[in-house]
Amino acid sequence: MIVALDHVAIAVPELEESIKRFMDDFGLEYKGTEDVAAAKTSTAFFPLPETSIELVSPLNGEGPIAKYLEKKGGGLHHICFRTDDIVADIEHLQAKGYQFLSEEPSKGAHDSLVIFIHPKSCGGVLIELNQPSDAH
Ligand code: CO
Repeated sequence: MIVALDHVAIAVPELEESIKRFMDDFGLEYKGTEDVAAAKTSTAFFPLPETSIELVSPLNGEGPIAKYLEKKGGGLHHICFRTDDIVADIEHLQAKGYQFLSEEPSKGAHDSLVIFIHPKSCGGVLIELNQPSDAH
């Protein structure tokens, strides 16, 4: 079951520069940076009740965010719904005809389980389902 809007993610070419903007210019609370090797991304989180802004940047200059930045030059990348049972939600959505970018959930930031629904299934919006580590 989907329980919350977990975060909105913005693709950024220069992570440190963007962290400064959100921390110093916008005054948001910076929760730290985490490299997610499995996703080839470097992430930074700024929680805002009840959600977060996520900055996503290529890890070692490669991966899906590198491709996105090449094509679009940065911007709003995906929205993420928090779920308490990602496997059940995948089954439920697959039965309704939704396509996913991978067969199974993989490890995301904060040791969560994540999977992405293909934007073609969602009117052009990339949607992530995320089950936090305390719920799996
Ligand atoms: Co995300």
